[in-house]
Amino acid sequence: MQDQPDFDPDDVDWERLEELRDGFLDGATGSYWRNAADVELYDTTFGRRIAWKWAAVLDELAARGFVAPGGRWLDWGAGSAIATREMLRRSAQSAVERVTLVDRSAPALEFARKALAKERPKLAIETKPEVDAEQGPFDLVLVSHVISELHPHDLGRLTSLLATARAFVWVESAARDGSRALSAVREQLLAQHDPIAPCAHREACGVLATGRERDWCHFFATPPPHVFTSREWGLFGRKLGVDLRSLPYSFLAMRSRADVRFPEQASRLLGRARVERASLRFQCCEASGIRDRRFLRRHDGKLFNQLSETRLAPKLVRWRFEGEEIVGVDERLA
Ligand SMILES: C[S@@+](CC[C@H](N)C(=O)[O-])C[C@H]1O[C@@H](n2cnc3c(N)ncnc32)[C@H](O)[C@@H]1O
Repeated sequence: MQDQPDFDPDDVDWERLEELRDGFLDGATGSYWRNAADVELYDTTFGRRIAWKWAAVLDELAARGFVAPGGRWLDWGAGSAIATREMLRRSAQSAVERVTLVDRSAPALEFARKALAKERPKLAIETKPEVDAEQGPFDLVLVSHVISELHPHDLGRLTSLLATARAFVWVESAARDGSRALSAVREQLLAQHDPIAPCAHREACGVLATGRERDWCHFFATPPPHVFTSREWGLFGRKLGVDLRSLPYSFLAMRSRADVRFPEQASRLLGRARVERASLRFQCCEASGIRDRRFLRRHDGKLFNQLSETRLAPKLVRWRFEGEEIVGVDERLA
């Protein structure tokens, strides 16, 4: 149980929250933040859910051995700076010199600066309405939940900026188009960067292969348990029609190329497994492309249960096969 509610549901302007949500879903090209209070409302509600996705991503990055570089960080499309705040919480050992928050919205920058300064009073923070590659290179670029709002020209400029970064982490909702656009960014950056995660390899992205047009790289995070028992999240779910159990996301983390070797025959599970009585069907990303896999309960009941539950399922594995059939996990890699 948590002592403090994440937010006071009696203080929430639910109509305004709905309007803001519709603004993001529409891929609004104008700014939807009217004032810093809007950003605060978002930060304590939708922003929390985004923070839980970042937590899942950062857990995976840690399992892949990634340590955030110190130096100059940039949060592009910062909103309430939730990405930077989550990343800083997990990067005690990184000597961060300066964080640049970029957002086209002045109220967002006003809120983001204050929220970040409150958590990190000694941190050097600068805010800007835009930035381009000449103002880099940045050691770490963070991008979160912005792809649906980007004009192709903005996406191109952001990709050029990422091309000069030492590392970047980009988290999105699991919308198919946004996720596939992120896969396309990966392809453009492979010449200078190595993928860190979620990829199991540095070959061409399997979801962009011919015949895989309906697939997309996405995952599900697990919200903290108090979400299912608290009054504020119960109301949030009902009023906004949000399924609290489901926290889908896509992400991409890359670092400047160092010819990192991926583990042999690594396989990254995508989405979640579909349970069909005594068998599971799921997709895996492998160096050879996207593979549609099946696992039978009779091979290993415990593994079957783990694979059926996203929270327990391994992320990156080397499977044990008998012929074409998966019969177990040879090694859990993350
Ligand atoms: C849905 S919010 C996400 C905010 C934050 N990154 C997060 O994950 O919570 C998208 C943010 O991107 C900003 N944004 C959208 N297009 C932009 C652009 N072309 N340049 C700078 N900021 C942009 C919006 O103003 C908004 O604050």
